[in-house]
Amino acid sequence: MSKKNAKPAGKAESKRVPFSQLRKLLLPAYRRHRGRLAAGFTALVLVDLLQLTIPRIIKHGVDGLESLTITAPGLLRLGGMILLIACAVVVLRFTWRYLIIGFSRLLERAIRNRIFSHILKMDAPFFEKYTTGDLMAHSSNDLAAVQMACGMGMVAAVDSLVMSVAAIGFMVAIHPTLTLLALLPLPILAVTTRILSGKLHRRFATVQEQFSSMTEFSRSTLISIGLIKAYTMEDFQTDRFGKLGQDYLKSNLQVASIQGLISPLATLIGSLGMLMVLFFGGRLVIEKTITLGDFVAFITYLYMLIWPMMAIGWVANLVQRGLTSLGRIHDLVNSQTTLPDPVLPIEPEMLDRPGFELEDLTFSYSSSTAPVLKNLTLSFGPGIHGVTGRTGSGKSTLCKLLARLYPLEDETLFFGGTDVNKLPLDFIRSHIGYVGQEPVLFSDTIAANIALGRADASREEIIQAAVSAAIHEDILELKDGYDTMTGERGVKLSGGQRQRLALARALLCDRPVLIIDDGLSAVDVATEHEVFAGLKRHFAGKTVLIVSNRIKLLSMTDNIIILADGSVESEGNHEQLLIANSLYQSMFEKQMTQDSEKEPALP
Ligand SMILES: Nc1ncnc2c1ncn2[C@@H]1O[C@H](COP(=O)(O)OP(=O)(O)O)[C@@H](O)[C@H]1O
Ligand SMILES: [Mg+2]
Repeated sequence: MSKKNAKPAGKAESKRVPFSQLRKLLLPAYRRHRGRLAAGFTALVLVDLLQLTIPRIIKHGVDGLESLTITAPGLLRLGGMILLIACAVVVLRFTWRYLIIGFSRLLERAIRNRIFSHILKMDAPFFEKYTTGDLMAHSSNDLAAVQMACGMGMVAAVDSLVMSVAAIGFMVAIHPTLTLLALLPLPILAVTTRILSGKLHRRFATVQEQFSSMTEFSRSTLISIGLIKAYTMEDFQTDRFGKLGQDYLKSNLQVASIQGLISPLATLIGSLGMLMVLFFGGRLVIEKTITLGDFVAFITYLYMLIWPMMAIGWVANLVQRGLTSLGRIHDLVNSQTTLPDPVLPIEPEMLDRPGFELEDLTFSYSSSTAPVLKNLTLSFGPGIHGVTGRTGSGKSTLCKLLARLYPLEDETLFFGGTDVNKLPLDFIRSHIGYVGQEPVLFSDTIAANIALGRADASREEIIQAAVSAAIHEDILELKDGYDTMTGERGVKLSGGQRQRLALARALLCDRPVLIIDDGLSAVDVATEHEVFAGLKRHFAGKTVLIVSNRIKLLSMTDNIIILADGSVESEGNHEQLLIANSLYQSMFEKQMTQDSEKEPALP
């Protein structure tokens, strides 16, 4: 299916984006905070240099003791120096942490905002390609990996470089051959960390994917919780979630076991170096080639090298993770919308003819699937148009195309007489009000939900819209009227009430075109007429498209289109279709008998 073909975000894609491209995501923040970074790294390097002087001081002490040339006040002075250095290190360490880790958080925020604003700009095909789970993973795990690489990763890289170069320098100054012997085991560590970090990298990618599936699973379960309960699927879903969690745990444990190997290995190899120093260095002291102070200082430097040795593997890891994540973020924020969005001056006369014309429009969701709409030539000018047809005939697709959610070929759809591909998306959408079958209510007051598209609307205007949508009486019966909280954390409204609320929202926006995609299906027969009357009053001279299978509603429209398998089967008004179309006739007869059967039950 198209969904599978169009999914480069998941495991299949591992093409490497060159760093010159990835860099573009990071550079703005680096430029902007370069002063902060310069100060932070100065503090970091100062800490290293100060720490490196401590073995020199110890050497003086030990040499003085050995030759018994040092006095008690002299020793105290050396101790005082070490204390002073320690105090300076405390202050400087705080400074670099605050500045550099703070920088990585600023960078994270910048990229997060970029991801968020990009996602909001994307079109329907994008949301078919990336699941919510993918998007959540990008904005949590991937971002965290980048933040770690640019924060602690960068710190560890600079820190270990300065420390190891300087420590090795001091060691060479004491005795070059001994340095060579002490460092002999180092390449083993370099090779093993390289292998381990490669493994770690692959496991980490699996962890990311599993996290994404788990997020997506819980999201889809939660939004369809009613369905799950209706089918008593709680245990089934819990089991499936348990299995996903089990896989996630397993992969995470594998990551942990590799990570757990790295540090003991570094210590082990460090001890090998220590063995060399004790044996060969000790002999050098006995032969009086180096002093005892040199020997002690040498061992201290070797200890100082263990952390940078471990850091090499760790940094390689962080950088690798960071780069993979940055690659995924790069793909995400560089995904293009498939819809043309030209920036063009708008001719004012276009507003005089708000309506759509379709000219031989054919549409399929992907190049590999059969067309869903075929050679449609239709006109939706001022007036109320009904659209009906069996499930899957393409009614919703038609509505989504008019709302510009999917790309279309040139010269097939015209808005106000202009090819839609030549018009900015915002321009077209700002002229359309849209009511879907399952209206979304936000956790806010009823009034705020009605005023969604028009934050500036007065209470009178909101009430007026609610009256027209025949929801005003229902709202007055609620505890706090228009100030009642609704949505996920408030009162629950019935399907019909929600649909009328969504209609009030569209009425308040008062746009030249209104599209109702099955958005009155749950409105009960008693209020249907009232709703339609409000609509007619409100939208006189404007273009309204009502998708519905309710004959009563359709019979009140000016013109009805019957879609069958993506084509127009019939077109005409209620009376004409009753004579000409057999599907319409049978719908009419069925619904009339249903309604009359219901009639006696009504009060
Ligand atoms: N996002 C989509 N991707 C691929 N196919 C789709 C998508 N949405 C709908 N379809 C297909 O298009 C056809 C028409 O669907 P739709 O427009 O929703 O029909 P209706 O609203 O009349 O029930 C159906 O065969 C449906 O499976
Ligand atoms: Mg539909």
